[in-house]
Amino acid sequence: MADSIQIDHFLSKEERYKSLVPQIKALTANESNLVANLANIAAALKYSMGFFWVGFYRVDANAQELVLGPFQGPIACTRIALGKGVCGTAWKENKTIVVPDVHQFPGHIACSSESQSEIVVPVASKGTVHLVLDIDSNQLNDFDKTDEEYLGELSEYISTNLL
Ligand code: SME
Repeated sequence: MADSIQIDHFLSKEERYKSLVPQIKALTANESNLVANLANIAAALKYSMGFFWVGFYRVDANAQELVLGPFQGPIACTRIALGKGVCGTAWKENKTIVVPDVHQFPGHIACSSESQSEIVVPVASKGTVHLVLDIDSNQLNDFDKTDEEYLGELSEYISTNLL
């Protein structure tokens, strides 16, 4: 496996994603443990892209809740009900949600007062969501189509290869 991720921080966001996504695939391809892979993906995204908080919530189908999984950043809410907050809504609707200003999202769950904008990308297989990838920024309006595109590619990769 790769033992480090190399990203030039002077690159544009799109160029950083283009460099990062193949490195994440190489880092995880030969490891079968899901938690280990999600932990490394969270660290790679946080430290390569400079986000405030990056983590996964895993679906507990019996409880109908998301449960906090591997993450990087300040401590966070451990359980989120189906349909609640940005994460629970992305899970319920099985769609990516970009929130330019978390204070304007009805029902947003504030795990940290520093979070200003957020993107949540579901990881689904055959229409069933198994995880959500949640990324918070401490700046307003920090996520756009570029994040949706490359995080969507990562979600597909996780779903096809790592679940
Ligand atoms: N803001 C999320 C909760 C998770 S934290 O951001 C880490 C939400 O509204 O679902």
